[in-house]
Amino acid sequence: MTQDELKQAVAQAALDYILPKLEKDSIVGIGTGSTANFFIDALAKHKDLFDGAVSSSKASEDRLKDHGISVFDLNSVGTFEFYVDGADETNERLELIKGGGAALTREKIVAACAKEFICIADDSKMVSLLGQFPLPVEVIPMARSFVAREIVKLGGDPVYREGVVTDNGGVILDVHNLRIDSPMELESQINQITGVITSGLFALRPADVLMLGTTNGVTTLK
Ligand code: A5P
Repeated sequence: MTQDELKQAVAQAALDYILPKLEKDSIVGIGTGSTANFFIDALAKHKDLFDGAVSSSKASEDRLKDHGISVFDLNSVGTFEFYVDGADETNERLELIKGGGAALTREKIVAACAKEFICIADDSKMVSLLGQFPLPVEVIPMARSFVAREIVKLGGDPVYREGVVTDNGGVILDVHNLRIDSPMELESQINQITGVITSGLFALRPADVLMLGTTNGVTTLK
């Protein structure tokens, strides 16, 4: 199977998981990236079964709207049942690195509002130690150099993702060479650096369910 076929399989598995629980007034939280796109396309076939979505990015919002799915402002919906999104790395504790597509802050906000975060990924994303994928950190533009110096003190090598401005007007530092032995601790440390908007480490609020696409089918971890 190709990587896209694995992504499509996990998107379908997530849909099969939530479909029986959707109600007419349900709102579905939607992530960002190629795996989330497969989920949006699959979900669109059942758009009459639920009310609409909240989106973690402008790109996903546009895709949802193209399918005729209503997209609500997060402030108007409160909490909701499911958030479905991909990841750049995951470990067996369902702690994640996200933000390869620069949508990390909104992804973290929408995930925080969901009762259940379902992460969908092909099995190339499973690692024993997080950090082989450079950790994205979104920062206020004027704080970029300061935050970079603070991150060096934590043992990372930050690289400015040039030309990228997030949906929130932030910029991204991709932090290489981190050995993330204690994801929760590192997430807290980075959060405390002045000028950081958020990091792509999802350890304080990991996924609740991980659906991993393998050549032998979809494996579900909770
Ligand atoms: C977006 O900012 C990311 O967090 C994505 O969720 C992550 O990069 C996964 O993307 P793919 O599904 O395209 O691999």
